[in-house]
Amino acid sequence: MRALVMDGYGGPEQTAIRDVPRPEPAAGEVLVKVQAAGLNPVDYKTRDGKLRMIQGYDMPQVMGNELAGFVEKTGHDAGRFSAGDRVFARVAKDRLGALAEYAIVDTEHLAPIPPSLDFHEAAVIPLAGLTALQALRDELALAPGQHVFISAGAGGVGTFAIQIAKWLGARVTTTASPRGRDLVLRMGADRVIDYTAHDFTEDLRDVDAAFDLVGGETLSRMLGIVKRGGKVVSIAGIPEPTTARKDLDKGFPLTALFWLASLKPRIEAKRHGVTYRFLFMRPSGSELAELADLAEDGRLTPVIDRTFPFAKAKEAMAYLEKGHVKGKVVVTMD
Ligand SMILES: NC(=O)c1ccc[n+]([C@@H]2O[C@H](COP(=O)([O-])OP(=O)(O)OC[C@H]3O[C@@H](n4cnc5c(N)ncnc54)[C@H](OP(=O)(O)O)[C@@H]3O)[C@@H](O)[C@H]2O)c1
Repeated sequence: MRALVMDGYGGPEQTAIRDVPRPEPAAGEVLVKVQAAGLNPVDYKTRDGKLRMIQGYDMPQVMGNELAGFVEKTGHDAGRFSAGDRVFARVAKDRLGALAEYAIVDTEHLAPIPPSLDFHEAAVIPLAGLTALQALRDELALAPGQHVFISAGAGGVGTFAIQIAKWLGARVTTTASPRGRDLVLRMGADRVIDYTAHDFTEDLRDVDAAFDLVGGETLSRMLGIVKRGGKVVSIAGIPEPTTARKDLDKGFPLTALFWLASLKPRIEAKRHGVTYRFLFMRPSGSELAELADLAEDGRLTPVIDRTFPFAKAKEAMAYLEKGHVKGKVVVTMD
């Protein structure tokens, strides 16, 4: 089968489309005939080797974190899934493999695609959609009427985050450049701050919660706009001890390392009387089924910026890597 393969850590020159053996599903797994795969910044960060300390891979490694397709074949104990089912998933982090004609998926990470979505739309939901759900509902526990600030509302995670925050009943303020303004308003944002022209700290005070998609200086400034007792969840800042324990199931020494690495944001957060949490999202078929219901109800709409054929998967990655995507990039196998 054809697959986008990474031969080592580094730049795009480390990746190529070539033939690799088709994998076989084991117990609790299915083989999916991939119709479309979503791209995410984690794809190129993994290729660069930036996440090697958290998750390393034996090379060569088939790339890709999320997919939509048909179940081609089931292993033993595949539960309710059978050949021909339309399914989508954020695949296991230690296996990847979504950017290929066929991919193995654990059944616990799989969910049926709702009838109203095509494969392209379904393929871009799992990673960014689950991230937004886990951050806003589970970590920030957003309640109706609360005011949440979301940085970078126009990208892959941001477009889902705005819609999920609105579904939870929150008031949403977000940042976007003029290129993303109309999109974030369409997603339901109540207020948009043009981050290229204004400092969002100037007139934003005492928000109930904040979700950071940018990290660095943006995260530092966000810690100061949340009311005392509130919480900031970041997916782009510095991992902290809870990330190691809760998201990665790791103990010492990673917990200690993250404790040290995250001293600056944790001290800053303490100074402002808020809690800092770095979330590393987890695959989940049951939570994906919840997102499928939201999509079916018309409450969650995937936004596709550009579609590339599989033969141009490297061009698709380069396009995402420029950092200006509005919504998501999808690679199609059909
Ligand atoms: N920890 C986790 O589990 C997890 C999960 C998912 C994603 N992430 C991380 O979260 C980050 C966001 O992911 P993504 O998929 O949303 O990325 P993305 O789709 O590539 O985001 C691109 C968008 O971000 C906007 N943007 C860039 N800098 C901005 C800033 N300073 N303020 C406001 N908007 C800004 C860009 O707008 P303009 O071009 O118009 O400026 C563009 O529309 C990435 O670092 C990713 O690796 C982490």
